[in-house]
Amino acid sequence: MELSLDEFASLARERLDPAVWDFIEGGAGEERTLAANTAAFDRVPLRPSVLRGAGSPHTGTTILGRTWDAPLAVAPVAYHTLADPAGEVATVRGTAAAAGLPVVVSTFAGRTFEDIAAEATVPLWLQVYCLRDRSLTRGLIERAENAGFEALVLTVDAPHLGRRLRDLRNGFRLPAGTVPANLPVDGFADPAAHSRADFDPGLDWSVVEWLRSVSELPLLVKGILTGADAVRAAEAGVDGVMVSNHGGRQLDGVPATLDVLPEVAEAVGGRLPVLLDGGVRRGRDILAALALGADAALVGRPVLHGLAAGGAGGVTGVLSVLLEELTDAMSLAGLRTLADIGPSLVGRAPDHP
Ligand code: FNR
Repeated sequence: MELSLDEFASLARERLDPAVWDFIEGGAGEERTLAANTAAFDRVPLRPSVLRGAGSPHTGTTILGRTWDAPLAVAPVAYHTLADPAGEVATVRGTAAAAGLPVVVSTFAGRTFEDIAAEATVPLWLQVYCLRDRSLTRGLIERAENAGFEALVLTVDAPHLGRRLRDLRNGFRLPAGTVPANLPVDGFADPAAHSRADFDPGLDWSVVEWLRSVSELPLLVKGILTGADAVRAAEAGVDGVMVSNHGGRQLDGVPATLDVLPEVAEAVGGRLPVLLDGGVRRGRDILAALALGADAALVGRPVLHGLAAGGAGGVTGVLSVLLEELTDAMSLAGLRTLADIGPSLVGRAPDHP
């Protein structure tokens, strides 16, 4: 039985074609941001408080009016069918078997929104790449909304896909059987070329207004890395921000998400929920993110590792390990609920400079 997310990653690596593994695992450029994301969590020590009468921890939280069993969600990752033929359908089944946690479905899902929703007992959110073809983008949103999706997540860090050297070296093409099931577009087998053809690189903040005009669903923006952009997002009227650098796959050299989180959280000032992804690999990482200002964390690659390692059961395994680690860490740190988490949980004590 796998006891850590590293073990699921090792199993996935054994099972996946090396070029597919590289596509999933890789980052842009020299992969400095990719490495920084996990290193940032390694640098943050937790400081427990003892004898607080904490008892058994409760991990539940409320985000955008919905109760989650834990401050954790599945990040949008394209083409789950690369890891398991059932793709996102297996992911939502596997997630539900672990806990009531939302799954953010990519614009580039390998299964249709309708098929995914038919199997889902967990909340579904739609990740939106705003395409040059606005009527196509609107159609995707309408379909997801009709299928019962509960929120939109606009990705704002991808005018086109980043320069990923592993994929360029491998001449990566999507394998037969993996297609963007919700898009009637051509030329998708080369993801980088496809993104240049179909993504709209000229987006500005008015896209928020446009999305508001096509859907009443709550709207989050994903890819915020500065306090200034978080303030702009709040002023533009979004319902939440996601601190994300796309798992180090876009602009290489941008900071680790955990390192910019305090700046973003301070700028938002509690007006909106702040979510974070990038490098979350243990339950204690979720605690660190919450202590530094996040309301919840998301995991991307680990979910695909679970899928490759064991289909829906592998996804359940990955999320269950994270939840068990989270409960364990809360208990050992003297935290009964997430409300007990504050800045004093991380870093040095103020009196020990
Ligand atoms: C992604 N990510 C992503 N993000 C997005 O907004 N739309 C997408 O379609 C995808 N697709 C995608 C594919 C693959 C293979 C990966 C690894 C990532 C980024 C994703 O949502 C998230 O930001 C990162 O994966 C989080 O980092 P970790 O948890 O993978 O370290």
